[in-house]
Amino acid sequence: MQKVNYLLQGLLNCYSRLNQCFNLKVLFKIALFCSDKIIMTNRQLFLNHVGQTSEAPLSLEIVKAEGCKLFDADGKEYIDLIGGISVCNVGHRHPKVIDAIKKQLDDYLHIMVYGELVQSPQVQYAKLLTEHLPASLNSVFFTASGSEATEGAMKLAKRYQNRSQIISFKNSYHGSTQGALSVMGSEYWQQAFRPLLPDILQMNFNSFEDLKNITERTACVIAETIQAEAGVLIAQNGWLKALRKKCNETGTLLVLDEIQCGFGRNGTLWAFEQFEVVPDILLLGKALGGGMPLGAFVAHKKIMDSFTHDPVLGHINTFGGHPVCCAAGLAAFKVLLDEKLIDAVKMKEELFLSLLKHPKIKTVRSRGLMMAVEFEDFDMNKKMIDALILAGVFTDWFLFAANCLRIVPPLTISDEEITSACTKIIKVLDKI
Ligand SMILES: Cc1ncc(COP(=O)(O)O)c(C=O)c1O
Repeated sequence: MQKVNYLLQGLLNCYSRLNQCFNLKVLFKIALFCSDKIIMTNRQLFLNHVGQTSEAPLSLEIVKAEGCKLFDADGKEYIDLIGGISVCNVGHRHPKVIDAIKKQLDDYLHIMVYGELVQSPQVQYAKLLTEHLPASLNSVFFTASGSEATEGAMKLAKRYQNRSQIISFKNSYHGSTQGALSVMGSEYWQQAFRPLLPDILQMNFNSFEDLKNITERTACVIAETIQAEAGVLIAQNGWLKALRKKCNETGTLLVLDEIQCGFGRNGTLWAFEQFEVVPDILLLGKALGGGMPLGAFVAHKKIMDSFTHDPVLGHINTFGGHPVCCAAGLAAFKVLLDEKLIDAVKMKEELFLSLLKHPKIKTVRSRGLMMAVEFEDFDMNKKMIDALILAGVFTDWFLFAANCLRIVPPLTISDEEITSACTKIIKVLDKI
C-alpha cells in the first residue's frame, strides 16, 4: 500500500512540475500530431487514408516480392498462391522484366495520349502478340486495365454492328466500371448502381437452350472462356462451339474474356484453343503487363478501324499501352514463351491435385493452374484463409464462390513450393 502511495505521490509531483514548465494542452496536441505523423503504422494509415473496398481487408504489409514468395514487414515469408490474382504468371520481379522496365525508364515514360505516336514497346508487343494469335486477331487496342478492355470491346461491337443488344452470362466478371458492371453476372453487385446500361441480356453459362436468345439484334455476346470468379467454371464439351455457331448465324460478334485465364494459365497460351473456337474480339489484361497495369482488346483490323471514323476518335484514352507497361509486358511474354513455362502447367496441376486430398475438401475444380478448392461454406473457407496466412501461405476466395479457396499461382511455382503449400493446407485442415 505504501508503495502505491509513493507512486501516486510521484506521479502527482511529476504532473504539477510538467504543468509548471509547459502547458499540458500543448503537450497533448504535440503527442497527437506525433502519433498521426510518426507513430501511426502503415497499416493504420492504410485503413484511415487509402480508399477501402471492404470492412475486413487482409491488410498484410508486404515489403518485398520475389518469384513465388512474398515477404512482410517482419520478414515473414509467404508462398504466394494467387500471384496478384493471375497477374504474375512469370513470377514476381522476373529479372528480364525488371531489366526491360529499367531500359524503358531511360528512354521515355508517357509522351502522348494513346494512338497518336509510334512507340516501340507498343508496336513490338502488338507484333509479338498477334504472331501468337489466329490471323483474324491482328489488331491490338491497348488500355490501362481489364475493365477498360471490356468497355472498349462493347463499344467496338455496337459501333461495328450498328446494334445495341449485348448478351453476357450469370456469374461472369468483366470488370467494375459502369459498362463492365452492366454485363456482370450478379444482381448482388449490380443493384446498388442501377440504372446501368440498357439492352443487356443475361443467359446461363453452359446452357444450349439459352443460345436461342442470340438474334440479329445482338451486337455481341461476351463470355469468359473459363469463368474464374464463379469458382473455375469450365465450358461444357461443345457448348462454346455451339455459341460460336449461333453467333455466326446471327452476325453477332463473339467476345471472349481471357483477362484472367489467358497467358498460359490453363495449360495452353490461350484458353480458347482448348475449345476450338476463335473469338471476334479477345480481351486481355492482368498477366498482359507482366506486373504493370495494362489491358487490351484484340480484333481484326477491319473491325478495329471502325473507331477511326463516324465519329473520329471513337475510343480514346490517355494511358493505354503506357510504354513502361508495354516494355514489361513484352519482356514477360517473351519469358513465358522462351522458358516454356506453359509446358509444365499440366504437371504442376496434377501435383496440386494429388496433394489436395482431405475429407473436408468437397471438390477441386481446375484447368491448369487455375484451381478452386471447394469447402462446405464461406466460414470454413475464411478460417482456412486466415490460418493459412499465419502458416505462411497466401490465398483468397472467389467473388461468386465464397466457399472456394483460390489457387492461381505464378506459373513458375516450383514442385517444392507446391508440396510445401499443400502440406500446410492439409495440416491446417486437420486442425480447424
Ligand atoms: C475475367 C476478368 N475480366 C475483367 C477483369 C477486370 O480487370 P481489371 O481489374 O484490370 O479492370 C477481371 C479482373 O479481375 C477479370 O478477372
